[in-house]
Amino acid sequence: MEFEQLNGKAPGLKEIKRRVEHVKSIIVHHPKYGEFLEELETMLVLSEGSVCPDGLFIFGPTGVGKSTVTTEFTERYPREIIITNDREYTQIPVLHVRVPPKATPRELASKILKEIGDPFHHKGTLSELTSRIHRFVRELEIKMIILDEFQHLIDADTDHVLTTASNWVKTFTEEIRIAVVLCGMPESVKVFISNGQLDRRFCNKVELEPFAYGTPEEIINFRVFLKKVDGLLPFPDLANLADPRLADKIYYISNGVPFYVMKLLENATYFAVKAGEDKITENHMAKALRKIKQVGRPFVVNPFTDAHFDLEAVSKSEADAMNRYKEKLIVKRKRSRKKDSHELSLK
Ligand SMILES: Nc1ncnc2c1ncn2[C@@H]1O[C@H](COP(=O)(O)OP(=O)(O)OP(=O)(O)O)[C@@H](O)[C@H]1O
Ligand SMILES: [Mg+2]
Repeated sequence: MEFEQLNGKAPGLKEIKRRVEHVKSIIVHHPKYGEFLEELETMLVLSEGSVCPDGLFIFGPTGVGKSTVTTEFTERYPREIIITNDREYTQIPVLHVRVPPKATPRELASKILKEIGDPFHHKGTLSELTSRIHRFVRELEIKMIILDEFQHLIDADTDHVLTTASNWVKTFTEEIRIAVVLCGMPESVKVFISNGQLDRRFCNKVELEPFAYGTPEEIINFRVFLKKVDGLLPFPDLANLADPRLADKIYYISNGVPFYVMKLLENATYFAVKAGEDKITENHMAKALRKIKQVGRPFVVNPFTDAHFDLEAVSKSEADAMNRYKEKLIVKRKRSRKKDSHELSLK
């Protein structure tokens, strides 16, 4: 895509939107990302026609790219209309399904049928829905099913594993005889703890982690990622994101999670284009960061307004502030418990 010089002249809203949308579509194949694509590729090949295909569980915290990588893999194998002498059908090599929250087995089966394109996905009993999935898998030549948001098999309100749904997944993956990939947040491990048979079926568990930033090699990895992103941003000039000082700042606000890096750049793109500028500067990033609030980090500072930013010192003072805050909370709780028991004893 072409992104012309703005030379200080702010473009219309349509152009601003085009450039922001472009940032949203940027995907960088960093080494871990590549490894995951390869793992999925290998699994697809090895499981085809196998008597007992292996399962794969991909886990990692929010925003690391689990859905991005599994969606890209699915798109590598697009659906195709096949016409033979006796029938016409849509071949679906890889099916990507998001598990609905608090899924019952029937809701999950129905969601799978919906993604397959069955107009009657909500009709029938659980066993009817399940056998329809089996029929479609054979007829439409589905080779892999990816169940994303697997943590939805835990009831978020009670923290209990939805046992009937996890049992359904277990039996389903045993009987379907194609590759099944489960993908979710680290807490989905709970589902495996409560269901040993499912745990064995998915003993290949791989973690997609945020970028680390300790050793020189890790720092280089993160900077290479930033450099690649920089080259894909919708501006004629580079933002120099991989500069060691700027990389420190971006690491500090993102903790190495791609989502926060990209959200920052998406907002910064908006401010830069709106000002008619031809690259993102720290000034745009400082404004952008004000629109990104992380509830888990109440003491985060804005590094883009700090000319003498020192990652180690700032991280330490944030951790200290957080610890003081937690200690205060504990004292407060203890005091209110004491007060409650005192009032009770007076009644
Ligand atoms: N390899 C990548 N290159 C560029 N951006 C990425 C990459 N991976 C993730 N992102 C960014 O992070 C965002 C979040 O990614 P994604 O939705 O895949 O995370 P997730 O691990 O599925 O999180 P959740 O557990 O919340 O569903 C993406 O929309 C994208 O902007
Ligand atoms: Mg996701």
